[in-house]
Amino acid sequence: MEPLILANEMVKMRNFVLADVAPVFELASAREIAENTFVPHPYSREAAQEFVDRAREQWSADEAYVFAIVDRASDAFAGTMGIHPEGEHNSATVGYWIGKPFWGRGIATAALRLLIRFGFEQLELNRIEAGHLDQNTASGRVMQKANMRCEGRRRGSQFHRGKYKDAIWYAIIREDYCQSQKSLGGSEKI
Ligand SMILES: CC(C)(COP(=O)(O)OP(=O)(O)OC[C@H]1O[C@@H](n2cnc3c(N)ncnc32)[C@H](O)[C@@H]1OP(=O)(O)O)[C@@H](O)C(=O)NCCC(=O)NCCS
Repeated sequence: MEPLILANEMVKMRNFVLADVAPVFELASAREIAENTFVPHPYSREAAQEFVDRAREQWSADEAYVFAIVDRASDAFAGTMGIHPEGEHNSATVGYWIGKPFWGRGIATAALRLLIRFGFEQLELNRIEAGHLDQNTASGRVMQKANMRCEGRRRGSQFHRGKYKDAIWYAIIREDYCQSQKSLGGSEKI
């Protein structure tokens, strides 16, 4: 797919560029990112470079669409969110992290709403899913606010930092999305 920008009043989501390596390194190095993701810790500049290179390659090969999230208030790189299609069932999985200095401003919610719209309207998916570690209630709240429904607990499914943990799984299907577009007006639409 050609490069593209998704935007609303809160965030701009764009393709990764090489200049993103430095802010990815800085923000992804925080212990608070590792606590709830599989981002390596300690993080290295090489890992940041590999992450950006991989995002660019996956985009070009239509394997996954991993966006850089820019905070529109400061025009700074704030985090990343990606959608990974899986062909057979026309579904996709979403993953994300937001840099700690940008937490609590609605950035993850705004980005997930944009990504869901992209998934249904541009990728024409039937289902979009995401999971979070049981302990990560903030991420569950982001998923709820993007109109995803909780489908349950996948017990012991995540081997995270040396321990088996439960994941809480969420999804939104095309039917839910179309329904929400009909029932919500103007700016509330996801
Ligand atoms: C989880 C994360 C993505 C949230 O990003 P964010 O931009 O701060 O989220 P938002 O501002 O959109 O907040 C969404 C909701 O979560 C709530 N929330 C945010 N941080 C929270 C926290 N630490 N504890 C409880 N709720 C929290 C917000 O209050 C908001 O709900 P509300 O509107 O009902 O008050 C971010 O903290 C993060 O990247 N954490 C580390 C990596 C990670 O967990 N990635 C996701 C893996 S599944």
